[in-house]
Formats: sequence, C-alpha cells, structure tokens
Amino acid sequence: MAIVGPESSYAERAQRADAADVLASFREEFLRPTRGGVPCAYFAGNSLGLMPRKARAAVEDVLTEWGDLAVEGHMHARQPWYRYHEDLAPLLAELVGAASDEVVAMNSLTVNLHLMLVSFYRPSGRRRKILLLPEEFPSDRYAAESHVRWHGLERSECIVELDHSPLEPISPATIIETIEALGEELALVHMSAVHYLTGQFLDIPTITAAAHRVGALAGWDLAHAIGNVPLHLHDWDVDYAVWCSYKYLNSGPGGVGGAFVHRRHAQNPATLRLAGWWGNDPATRFSMPQWFEPVPSADSWQLSNAPVLALAVHRVALEQFHRATMERLRQKSVLLTGFLEELLTELGRAYPELGITIVTPRSPEERGAQLSVRCAALSHAMYEHLLTRGVIVDFRKPDVIRIAPAPLYTSFMDVVRLGRAIEEFALRHLTDHDDGRVPTR
Ligand SMILES: Cc1ncc(COP(=O)(O)O)c(C=O)c1O
Repeated sequence: MAIVGPESSYAERAQRADAADVLASFREEFLRPTRGGVPCAYFAGNSLGLMPRKARAAVEDVLTEWGDLAVEGHMHARQPWYRYHEDLAPLLAELVGAASDEVVAMNSLTVNLHLMLVSFYRPSGRRRKILLLPEEFPSDRYAAESHVRWHGLERSECIVELDHSPLEPISPATIIETIEALGEELALVHMSAVHYLTGQFLDIPTITAAAHRVGALAGWDLAHAIGNVPLHLHDWDVDYAVWCSYKYLNSGPGGVGGAFVHRRHAQNPATLRLAGWWGNDPATRFSMPQWFEPVPSADSWQLSNAPVLALAVHRVALEQFHRATMERLRQKSVLLTGFLEELLTELGRAYPELGITIVTPRSPEERGAQLSVRCAALSHAMYEHLLTRGVIVDFRKPDVIRIAPAPLYTSFMDVVRLGRAIEEFALRHLTDHDDGRVPTR
C-alpha cells in the first residue's frame, strides 16, 4: 500500500489535525494559485507569501481617498497618511518582541541594512571586522563589503566568513569560538536569524551576548524569521535588525520592509544616522527646522514620507498576525513542520533511490516553518514534478528544495498532498529508469 494513499494513517491524522486546528479559518482569508482550476498546495511562503483577500479592498480604499481628498488625505483620511506608519509599529513590535518606538516599517530590507550599517558599523583602530555566516544571502554580503570599502578598507582584512559548509547547520559553539578569537578586532556580527538555504534558526541571544562580551555589536537579518519564529529582540539586547514583509508576512511583492533599533541607540543623540525630513521629530517636522532634530525612536531612520499604498497591504497582513497571535502560529508551525519531517523521513526510508536528505536541523528550537531537502541527483526533477502536481515549493542552487508550511494558510492535508506527489514521483521514476521495478509494499 502506498505510504501516503487516501487510506493511509497520514491522511487520517492530517484530517484529524485540520479539524482540531484553531487557526484553520485563516486559510480562507488568502487567495492562492490554481492548476487546472484546482487550488495549489503552497509551500513557498518563505519566498513570497500568499495574498490576503482583504489586500485589494485596502488598496482601493486608499485610492478612493486619494481621489476624494487629495492632499487633505494626509490629515483627514480615515487612517491619516501623515502618521500611517506609526499605527503599524505596535503590530510589528508584537512580532519581533520590541517596544513600538523600537520598530519602523520603511523602505526595503537591503536599503534598511545600509542605513543600519551606517549607524552600527563604525570601524576604528584595530576594531574593523564584520563576521558573516558562510554563504550568507548575497545582498547582506554585498552590503557589508560596500561599507568596508566606503570606509576605505579592504574586504580581505575586514570581512570574516565563518569557515563551514553552507549546506550544513552550524553549531552556535563554532560561531561563539570565532567571535572570541576575533576579540577586539571584531566590530560587528551580522547574520541571518533563519538561514535562507538551510532553514536553521540561530540562537540570537547567545550570539548577541558573545558579540557584546568582546565589545562588538550584533545585528540580524530577519527576512526568514519575522512572522515565522518567536523573537524577543529588546530582551535579547539586539542592536539592530532588518526585515522584508513579502515572505511570511504576506505583504506583497517588494512590500515595505522594516527595522528594529534598540532603544539605547535610538534614544542616544550621539548615534549617527543618515537624515531625511521624515526622521525628524513630527512635532517640528512642518515648522521646517533648519537642522535635523531626530525623533528619539526607530522612526528617525526614515528618510522619506511613507508609501501608503504598500503600507495599506502591510496593515491587512499584520492585523492577521495580531488576530492569529505568534504564540498559536508557532504551536501549529511546530506540529505542521514535524508532521512534514516525519512524512519525508518515511518516504526517504521507503524509497532510498530518491536520496532524500533533510538539511534543516531536527530540533524545533533550531528551525521555523521550513525544511530544506536534497534528493541527490533528483532534486530538480522532483521540484518540477511537484509543480506539475500543483504543489508549489522552491528550488535553490545547488540542489536544495525548500518546503515552507506557513501555518497561517497551510493545512496538514496540504502536507499529505505533497507527500503523495513525492511518492508518485518515486514510483514513476523507478518504473521509468530502474528496469521497470516497482516496489511492492
Ligand atoms: C536573507 C535575505 N536577506 C536579504 C534579502 C534581500 O531583500 P530585499 O530585496 O527586500 O532587499 C533577501 C531576499 O529574499 C533574503 O532572503
């Protein structure tokens, strides 16, 4: 009997888990792509989250008010545009574990990273090194390198990439040993909290504390972490963090990013920041002060007035998280990802020819809603097969299939559907390529 057939224990367990899922109704709040008129099972929310149905009306409302009110909308729209971004701060603060004055929705991730590096990479004397993960996301590497060069320094003497295989989880002990070895030469630790390729969730407080012990700062890229794993940035004493909103936060392609700056930096007038009028204290902004008077919060890193159309979508998406709560999402996420892991492991055992290896750490504390899987030489063929079956995952070089069961809209039966498509691939592959041998079980 097939491992994931309609009568299998996986299907039965999935139906029971879906019936008991307190977040199940959120699934209906999203649109999803279809294949042949059938909605897809969507596992690519770590790349681009699904569209909340309410996003369209939210954008139309802003367009209507723009048409009706024009410039008056800044003060008299239902949610006045002048302080639109301020209303989003409490919702973001909940997700990253911060106070509202420590977070701001603005720009995009890489732009925000540059703004943070201006403030928090301040090489001086021997303290000039930046520590990065092995094979960190390219934008982070490029940004770090460009700041090194901006300061007139050389990449080879300032950028330290951890010496470790990028396709294997890294132990926090290795990171901490490197931090300690760099000691007073280390200016900044900048890392992805959840690694885009392996899905590993790093121990942010321990690594941040290690950086602080040697006198360095610690900043985090939360692209794959926000809305995915529990975060307590303020209590963890993180210096800065940046994120995008189009992955787990479902705020649309190129949606507005965000930043966290710890209060001790944001309220310190000596913290250097690039200035623009929107970062000025709103109390004096329109009296057009001659010189920059930063508002003592993360808002002071804003340069320009806020992109209200994009923020309207972001607001819808953040309100969904507020209703769902990170606590419940995390509970479901651990169960759902665990279920996926169990199914993939059994398929791997039953069909060793597929060469299934799960790259992501096995412990729920060290991962979010993503399993990265390699299938020896078959990864790309498997990926393409899944797409034809209406199961959307993604593929990253060299041979990694990333599967992200985002708990807000993924059901346990979606996981079963993925399992069925993998099993179908296994059976067909063996039939086509292995002397017509079909396993009996
Ligand atoms: C880990 C990580 N960092 C940075 C980026 C770049 O984001 P953006 O294009 O919004 O600047 C991405 C994009 O996917 C990412 O995954």
